[in-house]
Parts: sequence; structure tokens; C-alpha cells
Amino acid sequence: MKSPDKSESSESVDRVIHEIDGIQEYDNKLPNWWLYTLYGAIVFGVGYWYWYQNAGIGQSPLEAYQAEMDRAGAEQAMAITVGDATPEALTALSKDPSAVALGKQVFASTCAACHRADGGGSVGPNLTDDFWLHGSAPDKIFRTIASGVPDKGMPAWQPQLGALKTQAVTAYVLGLVGTNVAGGKSPQGEREPISAR
Ligand code: HEC
Repeated sequence: MKSPDKSESSESVDRVIHEIDGIQEYDNKLPNWWLYTLYGAIVFGVGYWYWYQNAGIGQSPLEAYQAEMDRAGAEQAMAITVGDATPEALTALSKDPSAVALGKQVFASTCAACHRADGGGSVGPNLTDDFWLHGSAPDKIFRTIASGVPDKGMPAWQPQLGALKTQAVTAYVLGLVGTNVAGGKSPQGEREPISAR
């Protein structure tokens, strides 16, 4: 039953959309916070769908898991070949993109402070020229990196980095040799170009 009460504004009477047993249901405006939550959820939903399903940018949990397993598998596969740091094994590693990529990360975070980001040398010698204090053969470079030259300020890295990363960074350094970057430190040691590679 409608009660056209004088005190009630005509607006609210107009907004009665449903009435049963004297209970009136008003067509109230939805509160803004509610609407924004709805619109936000729609925008998020579309974005989420686009990111994960359509564009394939994001990884689903299954894909992320698979990628993680692949990476662990690759590290393990490399760790198996670690053991003997023979010149041949190190040369092969210097051609393995995953080893070189890992070595590059290690170099940037651990070695660049003394050998410059491009290997041109600052505190430590230039690693991109043909002159070597401790030998240019892959296994000699590995030994210098692994055991260091503590008296001369080159730390031993194998104890800190472990065998895998030490070999990976050696692989990366082998790729720097002979690049003779501009503005590098002047030569130190004997001229010993790497010709075998
Ligand atoms: C605290 C500074 C410092 C850091 C960090 C450092 N080095 Fe060195 N490095 C030196 C110095 C100094 C020498 C020269 C040693 C000498 O005079 O015998 C050297 C020498 C070397 C040599 C031998 C060069 C030659 O002429 O025989 C290699 C290779 C090398 N470093 C690689 C690395 C790698 C790879 C890393 C990172 C894992 C690294 N260094 C981190 C200071 C450093």
C-alpha cells in the first residue's frame, strides 16, 4: 500500500519499484564505492585474461613450475660436467650460451668492481688484451680465478662461488679475451694470445 505521506519527498516515492505487504523497495542509487569496486574488478579481469591467456606474457603456475624445473635441470646438467676443469671442457663451456649467461651475471656482480664491467681492467688487469700475468690457457685462467692471487689482491673465488659459477665465469672471461675493449688498462705480463680457439 502506498502511503502518499506529505512529508515524504516525491523523489523517494517515485523510486519505489516494488511493494509487497506494505514493504517498499526503493530503487536506490548504488553507492560509488560499490560501483568502483565492480568496474575495477572488470578492468582487472580483462587485464588478467589478456596477460595470462591472450598475450601469453605471464606464466601460469604450471608454466612457471616447468621453467623452474628446466633451469634446475640445466644447472644440474652443467654441474655434472664441472669436476674437471680441463682446457677442452672450459673451451666447450665458453661456447655454451647458458654457461656464458650465468658467467656474465657473476662477472657483473663479482668481478666488475676490479676488472671493469667490460673486462677492460681497473684495479685488476685488463682481461680483454693478449697479455697475461698468470697464463692465458683456459685451465690457467680458471686456476687464477678459482685460487686467486691473494698476495696481489685477487681473491680466490671457488670457495665463495662454488665450482659451477667459477667455471661459468671462466667461460665468460674466455669470451672477453682478445676483444681489446677501448680505454682498457695497459698491458701487464707476457704477451700470450690465445690461438687455440
Ligand atoms: C678486489 C679486486 C678484484 C676482484 C673483485 C676480482 N679480481 Fe681478478 N684480479 C685482481 C688483481 C689485482 C689481479 C692481478 C693479480 C696479480 O697481479 O697477480 C687479478 C687478476 C685476475 C686474472 C688474471 C689476469 C692475468 O693477467 O693473468 C683473472 C683471469 C681475473 N683476475 C679474473 C677475475 C674474475 C673472473 C673475478 C670475479 C669472479 C675477479 N677477477 C675478481 C683483482 C680482483
